[in-house]
Amino acid sequence: MTQTSRITSDVNRAVEVLNHGGIIGLPTETVYGLAALAEDRDAVTRVFTTKGRPTTHPLIVHLGTEVNVHDWGFFDANAQLLADTYWPGPLTLLVPRTARVPDWVTGGRDTVAIRIPSHPMTQELLNKVGTGVVAPSANRFGKVSPTTAQHVANDLGDDVDLILDGGSCEVGVESTIVECINGDVRILRPGKIGIADILHVVTVSTTPDSEESRAPGMLASHYAPHAEVRLFDSLDIATTTVSELQIQGLRAYLLHHANMDEYAATMYSELRDADSHGIQIVCAVLPPDEGVGVAIRDRLQKAAYR
Ligand code: TXA
Ligand code: MG
Repeated sequence: MTQTSRITSDVNRAVEVLNHGGIIGLPTETVYGLAALAEDRDAVTRVFTTKGRPTTHPLIVHLGTEVNVHDWGFFDANAQLLADTYWPGPLTLLVPRTARVPDWVTGGRDTVAIRIPSHPMTQELLNKVGTGVVAPSANRFGKVSPTTAQHVANDLGDDVDLILDGGSCEVGVESTIVECINGDVRILRPGKIGIADILHVVTVSTTPDSEESRAPGMLASHYAPHAEVRLFDSLDIATTTVSELQIQGLRAYLLHHANMDEYAATMYSELRDADSHGIQIVCAVLPPDEGVGVAIRDRLQKAAYR
């Protein structure tokens, strides 16, 4: 099968591949996922090996709006409020798991990450399969997440059975992860749903986290392109630096958007393009530390870490 014939917009075909133990590229509103049925151990194992991801980094279970989330996790009042407010959407809730959730999804942990994505094609798919679908971002471990079907094809090629093409991801950065356990709420990964959005609905705990890392996989270096990424607070200084580097004969690129939603939506794609054009240094301007800007800063800091 050629790479192009692997890309399809036929949801039923994607459902069939999943039901027969396959793994697929799946569009969501955040980034593309590498999907398998959560209860299919062999398929989930293939997701880990294809990504090159350690099996100790647990996966998010994606559910359709017609699937009963309570079969998968125990929701306290905070989790329920957040779910009612922001699902379907770019929010992942980390909650105590039920017996239904297999160990190979959570790495044996007693919690499970659950998300109901809003992308219409994926909603249709999830409701048709009627069970949990794991989907880490569809990139090789440690690399920039994909935001188009072509990115998935470029990264994973023949290793994926099918790629469902749902266009460019609207949000562009991974979902906000919020842990809700025994009345405590903690934001573990920033995303499109910002701190203010969470505080609007629930109270967030300020006591420090006892465990070193509750969400393994959030390493300092992550989301890294080949190009060196330098961070700037000032657009003027970043612009000047790009010019100076170019005068020195270096291939430099300015990464910046005044509109933060646009910045989030295009950031990963621009980092990929920078690599494919042989850019040596990306000068990225940090957006304000609010709303989705917190997530953009987080991902840029990880891309810049060496
Ligand atoms: O937007 C997203 O969330 C995308 C799309 C495809 O849905 N998915 C995604 O998955 O970003 P992934 O696997 O790249 O990131 C999931 C994060 C990891 O850092 C993982 O360690 C954490 O969630 N996680 C998942 N289950 C967990 C659990 N039971 N306990 C702690 N952390 C967990
Ligand atoms: Mg990822």
